[in-house]
Amino acid sequence: MRPPEYVEWTHDGKTFKQVSPAWKRELLIDYAKRFNLRTFVETGTCGGDTIAALYDHFDKLYSIEVHGYVYSLGYERFKGDPKVTMIYGDSAVELPRLLYRITEPALYWLDAHLDGPANGYGLANPLMTEISAIMSQKKEGIILVDDLDFARPAEWHNGVLRISL
Ligand SMILES: C[S@@+](CC[C@H](N)C(=O)[O-])C[C@H]1O[C@@H](n2cnc3c(N)ncnc32)[C@H](O)[C@@H]1O
Repeated sequence: MRPPEYVEWTHDGKTFKQVSPAWKRELLIDYAKRFNLRTFVETGTCGGDTIAALYDHFDKLYSIEVHGYVYSLGYERFKGDPKVTMIYGDSAVELPRLLYRITEPALYWLDAHLDGPANGYGLANPLMTEISAIMSQKKEGIILVDDLDFARPAEWHNGVLRISL
């Protein structure tokens, strides 16, 4: 892996800095190769750019999106492609259901959030439910979480995320 590449932006007078989307996708591909993972599961599709970037590196790709219009963009982009399954709905509900269909080790990319403890659609941030579902169904694979700062603050304890199963 090359060293992290950063992007900076300003919102409401505050400056934010994060690794670039391109670098994150390289990291996902790197994990997939190192751990020989051929199934990718994403929560939060957005426009489907990560699915597109990872497409050649996986046999099956799943993505869940709660926003109707945003979901339709991803759906249209990969319509009819047997490798890609787009799922419409809240990942806190849809991921536990999807997991029953995943029988092979997978790379989980948990990225369903907007901008805080709530996700902007009147729903709680789904992260804890997602992780609990993967762990309690004893799924094999790797879990990577984007923007962990957006997880519910109550579950953060001095930089450690506590999960009850
Ligand atoms: C940061 S973007 C995802 C970016 C995308 N994973 C990528 O790598 O390009 C977050 C997305 O999560 C969606 N989202 C927010 N809450 C959600 C939920 N509870 N279930 C599913 N999707 C959700 C938002 O509508 C938004 O499209």
